[in-house]
Amino acid sequence: MNKVLVVHYSQTGQLDSITKQFTQPLVSAPDIEVTFENLCPEQPFPFPWPFLTFLDTFPECVYRDPPALKEPIVSADDDFDLVVLAYQVWFLSPSMPMTAFLQHPRAASLLKDKPVVTLIGCRNMWLMAQEDMKQMLDGLGARLAGNVALVDEAGSFLSFFATPLWMLTGRQGPFLGGRIPRAGVSQRDITGCDRFGIRIRERLQAGNALDETLLRGLHAVTVDDRLISSERTGKRAFRLWGRLLRAVGPAGSWQRRPVLAFYSVFLIAMILTVVPLGVLVRKITAPLTRKRIAHLRARFAAPSGE
Ligand SMILES: Cc1cc2nc3c(=O)[nH]c(=O)nc-3n(C[C@H](O)[C@H](O)[C@H](O)COP(=O)(O)O)c2cc1C
Repeated sequence: MNKVLVVHYSQTGQLDSITKQFTQPLVSAPDIEVTFENLCPEQPFPFPWPFLTFLDTFPECVYRDPPALKEPIVSADDDFDLVVLAYQVWFLSPSMPMTAFLQHPRAASLLKDKPVVTLIGCRNMWLMAQEDMKQMLDGLGARLAGNVALVDEAGSFLSFFATPLWMLTGRQGPFLGGRIPRAGVSQRDITGCDRFGIRIRERLQAGNALDETLLRGLHAVTVDDRLISSERTGKRAFRLWGRLLRAVGPAGSWQRRPVLAFYSVFLIAMILTVVPLGVLVRKITAPLTRKRIAHLRARFAAPSGE
């Protein structure tokens, strides 16, 4: 009997739907046993998010301060053939319930020397989060065999409005009579997710190794190379401001409020100035950076490839 552990968390249910579709071919196989570990923070994160709480969460998220989790159901000495980690991106980092799990002592024994597949459902900025994830998996001695990233269908520009509106109002849209489209991953992409489960099932049933070729040729990810420098700059800014905010006071404290207010003005100014400037610089320097970008693109797309 092959054994698969699926660790997941979702606020709106989107990532749970993706996970369900992804794992359906495994669940329906008589010779594969699937264990689902639904992560439950002791203090649930709010949904919809009050604006200030949303903003105030980024320092702890970026610095991976683990929120307390309810005790996982899976026991430390369970032995799995594959671990699937389904996570969403928060502030260019893996979401806090997932980083908390990865820091839980049980993760160390469950993931050591195990092949892992990461399954991401996010707006569209997952590159830096997955770099964090790779680092944490390395630290745990796990092997990343594949990565699948599903992103919002609205596209980079419109999802920039649609997804925050969804998070802050709880409504998925469309908004403003359709001028801002519905937020979230398309139903078509979610439905198509079972192709990954089918591939994993084939490999497990054939007794083949779950190595880095596991999800190749299935269009598991698309790397938007226009986002590489924005993500890098954004992550650096989150780290810098996050360090300052953590020094000022704990999450939720009144001392943070003025810094957060200043930060939100700074953020909007950055988005209105630095982002368009970055687009322009990228266009001008494109012929010089083509090779480097192609190299980075392949690195971010690894191991599944585009
Ligand atoms: C606090 C917070 C921060 C987020 N930051 C990002 C981000 O940096 N990049 C991104 O692509 N999506 C971001 N998202 C969107 C999520 O990745 C995800 O698409 C959304 O929360 C729905 O996931 P769910 O399955 O938990 O409902 C963020 C969402 C929240 C709540």
